[in-house]
Amino acid sequence: MSSLIIKGGNRLEGEIEVQGAKNAVLPILAATILNGGKNVIHNCPELRDVKITIEVLKNLGCKIKQENKVLVVESDNITGHTIPDELMRQMRSSIIFLGAIIARCGKAVVSMPGGCEIGNRPIDLHLKALRRLGIDITEAHGYIHCEVEKLKGDNIHLDFPSVGATENIMLAACMAEGTTVITNAAREPEIVDLECFLNHMGAMVRGAGSDTIRIEGVKKLYGVEHEIIPDRIAGATYLSCAAATHGTMILRHINSGHMNAMTAVLKEMGCRIYDEKNRMILTAPKTRLRPVKRIVTMPYPGFPTDIQSPFMALSSIADGTCVFVENIFENRYQHVEELIRMGADIKVDGRIAIVQGVEALEGTNVVAKELRGGAALIVAALSADGITEIDNVRYIDRGYEAIEKYLSACGANIKRKE
Ligand code: EPZ
Repeated sequence: MSSLIIKGGNRLEGEIEVQGAKNAVLPILAATILNGGKNVIHNCPELRDVKITIEVLKNLGCKIKQENKVLVVESDNITGHTIPDELMRQMRSSIIFLGAIIARCGKAVVSMPGGCEIGNRPIDLHLKALRRLGIDITEAHGYIHCEVEKLKGDNIHLDFPSVGATENIMLAACMAEGTTVITNAAREPEIVDLECFLNHMGAMVRGAGSDTIRIEGVKKLYGVEHEIIPDRIAGATYLSCAAATHGTMILRHINSGHMNAMTAVLKEMGCRIYDEKNRMILTAPKTRLRPVKRIVTMPYPGFPTDIQSPFMALSSIADGTCVFVENIFENRYQHVEELIRMGADIKVDGRIAIVQGVEALEGTNVVAKELRGGAALIVAALSADGITEIDNVRYIDRGYEAIEKYLSACGANIKRKE
């Protein structure tokens, strides 16, 4: 198991070309099986989750070619309609393949994705929505069996604006008979990127980015070329690394319009941020960061749950108290005990975490327990006095491309130990 060794205290000064968005490329790769054509995906991030998704595509019969950040997926010859247990267990978000497999094959069998490190991750909203499209779904012995004669569009109201459920419906409804209208849809930018990809394929999807998405079923879809949007969470994570070390960070190839909730908090903490259309420059204060009274995670465009833990690492060294409320996932404070090991003063009570900033954290041995909590430990270690070893880096590699290379190019003292 590899680990990261970080010697804290270096001021980060540098420039990072932000990777393609993990949470955009995953549903878009699922969409490639709809069109039976050749799909060329640019700015595809090199991540563990993408590698697992490529295995899912191969298992379904797709031909894959990868050259650096360009992925070519040919889906003319789909030979399967199942996702094996070991792939589902490696990446539960493979559930967003369900709608696409059913739309292409008329049936699908996947194992129940089960929970993960940040919560039990139910899929009831996905299944309830897919049944509205006429799909017969039975759950037995840990597997979900889906079958449909003909997908029929319908009006679907989501009890919660679930990102994955919104995407699954969009994928299943593209070639359904008639119109599907999703109300209380998730509004994340990654869903807008999926709509753009689907429409390039010949689908007729309107409204992504709002809470109502309308899909007119079409007969045929075609292979396309597409560039994945920048990863707003990775971008904000790198800004946090500069903010934690009184540094400066230039992000290239970022969509600043996707970052407002996060940059607003960084500015409140005392950072100066200058942004143009696809470039952003953060200058951290030379003194301690100011505390933000409350950070409450909400569906987009609210404060993203995925950046909660890196911003908690920042709040751990701010000059005052910050109250976090994690409204999206029920178990997303696993980084807290690791930050406390580094000297942070944090008290958790259910979905609330009260962070009392300290002068400085101390380097020590810590363990990443999930993707974004692992990123938080990197932010903390960069600011800490002394050396920190972060174990279980494989969690971090799921969502951050070559993070130690990007950060050391900006002056961080960070090495990977295999
Ligand atoms: C997506 O997960 C992202 N993953 C997550 O990013 C992100 O945190 C999340 O959206 C929220 O923005 C991908 O896009 C691959 P949800 P998803 O369905 O689709 C509950 C990361 O770190 N819910 O919007 O699984 C669920 O339990 C990852 O990059 C149901 O109750 O999120 C959670 O409490 C982590 N029933 C809430 O909704 C359902 O059927 C939000 O989940 C589905 C979800």
